[in-house]
Amino acid sequence: MNLILLGPPGAGKGTQAKRLQERYGVVQISTGDMLRAEVAAGTDIGREADAVMKAGQLVSDDILVRMLSARIERPDCARGFLLDGFPRTVPQAEALDRMLAEKGLALDAVMELKVDDAALVERIAGRYTCAKCGAGYHDTFQKPREPGVCDVCGGRSFTRRADDNRETVMARLAAYHRQTAPILPHYAAQGKLRSVEGMAAIDEVTRQLEAFLDPLAGVVTEAVAS
Ligand code: AP5
Ligand code: MG
Repeated sequence: MNLILLGPPGAGKGTQAKRLQERYGVVQISTGDMLRAEVAAGTDIGREADAVMKAGQLVSDDILVRMLSARIERPDCARGFLLDGFPRTVPQAEALDRMLAEKGLALDAVMELKVDDAALVERIAGRYTCAKCGAGYHDTFQKPREPGVCDVCGGRSFTRRADDNRETVMARLAAYHRQTAPILPHYAAQGKLRSVEGMAAIDEVTRQLEAFLDPLAGVVTEAVAS
């Protein structure tokens, strides 16, 4: 399956993508993670992206489209991919349509996580990740089982993102409403858009997404099978 997860900063795209990739065997492609890796490696793209991301603005369409095109050609995407953070502008959505058509691929579904703006700042301000494996946590909503120890890899050091401060979050939110929300009608017109209540608890959001995706993926749940 080839999927897109859409939603404002802090909506839970990364959190849900990690769960869906295991269930459906798709590869999570987070353009934010890719850009942060470029920044950490000090590449030309990273140098250009760093200041833009710290200001909460969007990196140029040209860079993102080239980056994404190269990424979905890698062999690990053969079973499908889950885009997290792309497309984010109408030109990116149009470029993706062209790119998929050229590669003989198609999108199966676009899932929007709907969350009130007021909840997003709290979600982002409390977020941190394991420095070793990248597993995501939250001070209130998603604590590790043992305090200070990563559930996944046992790591004991954690990081917070450079763009997770209040001022930058407000700018990211404004960029979402101005530049990204306008792509929703693009996918609604293709009959591919499914909106999910992202204000619910993390497990409940996963349940809603699975209820929609299981039939598309041909997954037979126990409830249906019995
Ligand atoms: P990116 O990394 O994509 O960030 P974002 O869209 O701002 O989204 P986040 O990663 O902040 O939030 P998320 O939805 O993944 O939420 P999460 O699951 O972590 O992009 C960063 C920057 O890169 C952009 O600003 C831009 O500059 C650049 N960029 C990236 N892609 C680009 C593109 N295509 N074009 C141009 N520029 C691009 O959840 C947040 C927290 O909430 C977590 O702590 C989690 O535990 C908690 N949480 C999650 N779900 C729930 C829930 N249901 N209830 C309670 N808590 C929850
Ligand atoms: Mg994310």
